[in-house]
Amino acid sequence: MAQETNSKYLINGKQNILSGSAPSGDLTLGNFIGAIRQWGNLQNEYNCYYMVVDLHSITTRQDPKVLRERSISFFAQYLAAGLDPKKNTIFFQSHVSAHSELAWILNCFTPYGDLTRMTQFKDKSVKHPKNINAGLFTYPVLMAADILLYDCHLVPVGEDQKQHIELTRDIALRFNNEFGETFVVPEPFIPKVGGRVMALQEPSRKMDKSDPNQNNTVFLLDEPKVIEKKLKSATTDSGTTIEYTEEKPGVKNLLEIYSSLSEEKIDSIVQKFEGKMYGHLKVDLASLVVEKTQHIRDEYKRLIADKNFLHSVMKENAERASAHADKTLSRVYDKIGFVPKA
Ligand code: TYM
Repeated sequence: MAQETNSKYLINGKQNILSGSAPSGDLTLGNFIGAIRQWGNLQNEYNCYYMVVDLHSITTRQDPKVLRERSISFFAQYLAAGLDPKKNTIFFQSHVSAHSELAWILNCFTPYGDLTRMTQFKDKSVKHPKNINAGLFTYPVLMAADILLYDCHLVPVGEDQKQHIELTRDIALRFNNEFGETFVVPEPFIPKVGGRVMALQEPSRKMDKSDPNQNNTVFLLDEPKVIEKKLKSATTDSGTTIEYTEEKPGVKNLLEIYSSLSEEKIDSIVQKFEGKMYGHLKVDLASLVVEKTQHIRDEYKRLIADKNFLHSVMKENAERASAHADKTLSRVYDKIGFVPKA
């Protein structure tokens, strides 16, 4: 999977992983399939860091009250989805100051031209023409800092983040060439099916937590009835046969969601629905989505009511993250010639 590594970067013999999601909207089925579900699968094999990416979320305007509540809700949803805070380090990005500090350093080592090529910056600039701020532009550099601080070998993400991981690799390689080995060069880890879940009503674009049309998006905390309604009204086409083809992007998307949740091959799903109508696929898919996510809603209700527990886990995990991140930051400060504090 990942490259050979110098054993000094392993923790308890395991390679490191980091990923996260920005609380700029509620967690979606796309986030679950593309990322969070993979995180849970990796927690035994790797030393994992999972963040609520609050610093990144403010590159678009957030209501402070909503941001605070949503950030805690994300944290509880991570735990509810099965991430064990004893096995993984689960924390808020803003609780570890090294992220902002390393981001500044890396800003000074990232060519302007590289950032102008980032497609997410271009997309978000179109979506938020009145708020094209410097943070939006340097967003991928903060992401590089997130990853490089934890000596990560692997970064489990959906397809939309691939370009940012490539930039992270470029930044790490360039820095290592100039100063000697400092950073582990990470690899993206993207699921083969489900790396890009599309919007239900407009399957030409990805399902996005900040989509103004809520019918495009299944949220993880949507009640079963809402999930069923959204999936039943998903755009398909005027045909009737269930086929996996680029010409039927709506059906293709539903089949991919089905395949990634059921872990069945697309071909055998297509066979199963041979001679059946789109409606059958939608009804069965809705039951599958509800079944595969119900444990999250149940566990979430329990966890979100226990704020004391959440706060103690937050604190303990942020301390663990800081210990690793601060060590990497000191290594970088030393390499670039900063005078140590004491
Ligand atoms: P975010 O919050 O947009 O998404 C979180 C994760 O979900 C994946 N994802 C999807 N996968 C499949 N289909 C979709 N429709 C879909 N939508 C989102 C994303 O690829 C991502 O893996 N910049 C990041 C957060 C971040 C981060 C990091 C991730 C900040 N620093 C360091 C990894 C490592 C973001 O906004 O993700």
